Amino acid sequence: MDFRSLFCCVKGSDRKAQGKKETTWRIFSLKELQLATNNFNYDNKLGEGGFGSVYWGQLWDGSQIAVKRLKSWSNKAEVEFSVEVEILARVRHKNLLTLRGYCAEGQERLIVYDYMTNLSLLSHLHGQHSAECHLDWTRRMSIAVGAAEGIAYLHHYATPHIIHRDIKASNVLLDGDFKAQVADFGFAKFIPDGATHVTTRVKGTLGYLAPEYAMLGKASESCDVYSFGILLLELASGKKPLEKLSSTMRRPITDWALPLACEGKFSELADLRLDGKYDEEELKRVVFVGLICAQNRPEKRPTILEVVELLKGDREKFAAIESDEMFKSTPVAEDNSSEFISDEKEPKQEIENVKSD
Ligand SMILES: Nc1ncnc2c1ncn2[C@@H]1O[C@H](COP(=O)(O)OP(=O)(O)O)[C@@H](O)[C@H]1O
Ligand SMILES: [Mg+2]
Repeated sequence: MDFRSLFCCVKGSDRKAQGKKETTWRIFSLKELQLATNNFNYDNKLGEGGFGSVYWGQLWDGSQIAVKRLKSWSNKAEVEFSVEVEILARVRHKNLLTLRGYCAEGQERLIVYDYMTNLSLLSHLHGQHSAECHLDWTRRMSIAVGAAEGIAYLHHYATPHIIHRDIKASNVLLDGDFKAQVADFGFAKFIPDGATHVTTRVKGTLGYLAPEYAMLGKASESCDVYSFGILLLELASGKKPLEKLSSTMRRPITDWALPLACEGKFSELADLRLDGKYDEEELKRVVFVGLICAQNRPEKRPTILEVVELLKGDREKFAAIESDEMFKSTPVAEDNSSEFISDEKEPKQEIENVKSD
């Protein structure tokens, strides 16, 4: 693939059309990136994903970057690399991670981004920063709204429309002001004009996958809405999408949150690390919107644009959601452990099921 020509055609027009974030990307040499990252030194490592490792680096002008380096070359990895650079080069939004450039020399494939000082949402909710309690309620609300706005840009304003297919806490990065930046476009897909969905191989992460996508490979905007709903519940409660109940059983966060929401037990839903310091109305909003997004029937989920309005406090829309039948009857707290996910069946975090592509 000729990346050079790809970037040349995208650059001019998109910058004009979007003009929200004035950035330029360029091609980096391998030498420059080796120099910036101290030869991809282990001490510079920021994170690891399916694609490879991400390293912190500093360029000659003093600016800080993050460099994602492909683990090992394969056709599949090459596709993921080109999808990510192609999509990131087309999008410009305050809540989408900015592409600084890429490097494709020999079998090396590297993607260069702005460095996000506060790393990922995952690191604050469940990872190395979780004990530091940096995420107060105001920050959580602005992360929720910001991430939703980034996704809304992909679904409704980018042409063609884009579905992300891997919305999750490790793919929402946080800048120095804890502003959300949606990242990792390796699984993203363009939705052709007029299409309601694309049938594709299932990619993504267990716990965040919409059922119609996991089972039938039907990917659409509403699959991202489902994953975003899980993320909202995670953000409010500090719980993981799948909670480990025993060595082999995991409970989806929705199964835990729905009965509590129906009974109005919001203090039980709130992350203990918030220490009771949250706006109850907003917490209620985040939980209800999370649950309405992460429901099994895709036709009943809101669009991400509606989610933005709901999170920002649209009272009329929220009243309609609150009176939805799913919140009317308290689900019976019976032994429904047979519905829980067994580790033995789904041992891997990143799943990949072959469907017609
Ligand atoms: N720009 C960045 N700034 C800081 N950390 C980053 C940046 N990009 C990625 N990371 C870290 O690396 C991890 C993996 O990056 P990601 O783009 O999701 O890669 P993958 O495609 O391999 O999943 C992220 O969860 C985050 O912790
Ligand atoms: Mg990732």
